[in-house]
Amino acid sequence: MSNIDLQPADYLPTAPARKDYGIGLIGCGRIARSAHLPAYRQCGYNVVAACDLIEANVERVQAEFSIPHGTAQVEDLLDDEAVQIIDLAVHGKQRLPLIEQICAARPPHLLGVLSQKPLAMSWSDAVRMVELCRAAGLPLMVNQQARWVSAHRALRVLIDRGVFGHVYCVTHFHRSFQDHPGSWFIELEHFNFIDHGIHYIDLCRYFTQLEPIRVKATATMQPGQLAITPMCHTILLEFPPEAQVMAVSHFNNVIRTPQLHRYEWFIDGTEGSAMASRDTVIVARKDAPRQQRVFGIQGNWFPDAFGGSMGELMRALDAGREPETSGRDNLHSIRLAYAAVESAATGEAITLEPL
Ligand SMILES: NC(=O)c1ccc[n+]([C@@H]2O[C@H](COP(=O)([O-])OP(=O)(O)OC[C@H]3O[C@@H](n4cnc5c(N)ncnc54)[C@H](O)[C@@H]3O)[C@@H](O)[C@H]2O)c1
Repeated sequence: MSNIDLQPADYLPTAPARKDYGIGLIGCGRIARSAHLPAYRQCGYNVVAACDLIEANVERVQAEFSIPHGTAQVEDLLDDEAVQIIDLAVHGKQRLPLIEQICAARPPHLLGVLSQKPLAMSWSDAVRMVELCRAAGLPLMVNQQARWVSAHRALRVLIDRGVFGHVYCVTHFHRSFQDHPGSWFIELEHFNFIDHGIHYIDLCRYFTQLEPIRVKATATMQPGQLAITPMCHTILLEFPPEAQVMAVSHFNNVIRTPQLHRYEWFIDGTEGSAMASRDTVIVARKDAPRQQRVFGIQGNWFPDAFGGSMGELMRALDAGREPETSGRDNLHSIRLAYAAVESAATGEAITLEPL
């Protein structure tokens, strides 16, 4: 009999055995200040240096998070022997030149790089970054920290225990609003597929543990929206027929009625189903049709999950293995996101060859 009971210890990220790796942050903007650094403080990680082209941003995080070394020059950060992990919190388009610079310098004290998502703003840049890091012998992980969000981790735990039997359908509904005037999101081409949406594409892979073979997508602009590309889309992921599974992500990110915003995942299997929001997981089994178990979930996406992804990189470095969301692994998610863009533009299903 599968075990439905969910305890926080089942899904909360555990601390890595060694957490004193020196972290050097490149990019001290909004996400670094609001999520990376608060999470690292919470986890007791050791941030030793901060770098940003804007000096005021460096000074601000140094003061707020007691970071000893601050600089506006990436070379300074690379020369700092205390820096063992680089945490790259710049925008997608800004990452390739930095990866080129880091790999060219390849200081011996540097052990790994954690890059914000999306790894790159083009498929060819993503491939190049993975290849550069491989050639430099530098482990690269992508911060798909949604995999360390408690509700998502809890679903994965239940799937692994066999609570749902054979999982044949993974469904994501997302109703939100990010059409904010003056934000960088509205200026970014395909923001909803490539940047924000990559989380849900990656999570479809995480929940199914399979690689799709075909992608279909549809997307629409909305009258009066500010964003330059559609904020509303549906992606269908097809898997090999023998896997008997499908995944759907419906993402409407321009809903002007916050009272009807939602964030939900459904996992359907031959033995049972689950529905998860950010803070609740509901589980039902076919052998107990009148019952459902409702679990309040501890831990948040912001900032807690950011501690989980950095912890995974530390654990992988300790063990000498590839991190769960390595650059190489992330090529699958990036490719799916670009296939969805292409499918929505052409109306065609996009077939993917094995990577
Ligand atoms: N994982 C998540 O859930 C999540 C959430 C929000 C944002 N993000 C990602 O984080 C990235 C950054 O977003 P943000 O909102 O923090 O942006 P931001 O503009 O607030 O910050 C980016 C910072 O990088 C600095 N920078 C740019 N190029 C640099 C360089 N060469 N050297 C040093 N510093 C440099 C900028 O000066 C700026 O301070 C985006 O790619 C975004 O998609 C991820």
